[in-house]
Amino acid sequence: MRGLLSRSPFRISKPMFTFNDVLQRVEQEISRLSFDRPPSDLYAPIGYILSLGGKRIRPALTLIACNIYSDSIEPSIAPALCLEVFHNFTLLHDDLMDQADKRRNQPTVHKLWNENTAILSGDAMLIAAYRLIGDSEPAHLKELLDLFTATALDICGGQQYDMEFEARTDVSETEYLNMIHLKTAVLIACCLKMGAITGGASSADAQHLYKYGLCIGMAFQLQDDLLDVYGDTHTFGKNIGGDILCDKKTYLLTHAMTHASAAQKEEMRRWFEQKAPDPARKINTFRRIYDELGLREITLSRIEAFYDEALSNLKQLSVPEERLTVLKETGKILLHRKS
Ligand code: IPE
Ligand code: IPE
Ligand code: MG
Ligand code: MG
Ligand code: MG
Repeated sequence: MRGLLSRSPFRISKPMFTFNDVLQRVEQEISRLSFDRPPSDLYAPIGYILSLGGKRIRPALTLIACNIYSDSIEPSIAPALCLEVFHNFTLLHDDLMDQADKRRNQPTVHKLWNENTAILSGDAMLIAAYRLIGDSEPAHLKELLDLFTATALDICGGQQYDMEFEARTDVSETEYLNMIHLKTAVLIACCLKMGAITGGASSADAQHLYKYGLCIGMAFQLQDDLLDVYGDTHTFGKNIGGDILCDKKTYLLTHAMTHASAAQKEEMRRWFEQKAPDPARKINTFRRIYDELGLREITLSRIEAFYDEALSNLKQLSVPEERLTVLKETGKILLHRKS
């Protein structure tokens, strides 16, 4: 162990940051971002969405990954902030696209202001995200920028598939998994890889952490799909059943469309055809069919399988086991999340 540490080009001798330390630092940095300037209808929604909190899991992962390789997490702050602002930008546009009224237990930006505001404030957030990543250390800037741009384009692709699938009834599990890989998993993977890069990890380690993030990200979206059906509204912070009302091809619905009986398929098809369905009745019908098919358990076991696959990537890393404690704890928190 001593040999490994002394050969390392990185100084890793101080105690590591805990999950709470990292979250606190993220909150502190976010509260320092100021969007208090005119025109207020452009900037106030940005301050609003960022002030509503959320789990801050993406920037936390960036700092945690950096800390695996470096005592100082300072070089990871700019990319972490970029990624959280970017994530919040995607939420402004996503809520508009998904006609969602509630986020983090508060009205969404397009409801509190209007649809054009959600578009333009979102655009400004994407630009602000680029400005933040521009503050990264010059030695890493090109690599971080390339990764960020590729990730952002993947997410647009994933969101496009997500929208296209609403109108389809033949979406396969493979198509679904590709869609969530793009819309959700690549961002979580990017957060980890950016942390690794800024901490000075080897490119092999940065890639293993990227793959770890992809698996965690897939599990994260399956969980989001599950909570959208079975979650508690207040804890989840979003309206339950929103995916069912939009005919979103979630993991549950994709699975149901393949494995349902002829009668269940016919029942679902009739609901898809209704132009103005009774929301509560539609949600209850799909939840009943999901119950009949045991989809809660099936989804949970797929989530665990992704989590196990994630852990297998950590075994490939060239760092002492104890450097991974906080990352593993964070993975477990995510695995059991209810919000
Ligand atoms: C919501 O992300 C979008 C998805 C990828 C499911 P989070 O669940 O991380 O949202 P916040 O930031 O914690 O509110
Ligand atoms: C999340 O998809 C993907 C992005 C926001 C890019 P969802 O539409 O499932 O996220 P929530 O449920 O609205 O948070
Ligand atoms: Mg949504
Ligand atoms: Mg969406
Ligand atoms: Mg969702």
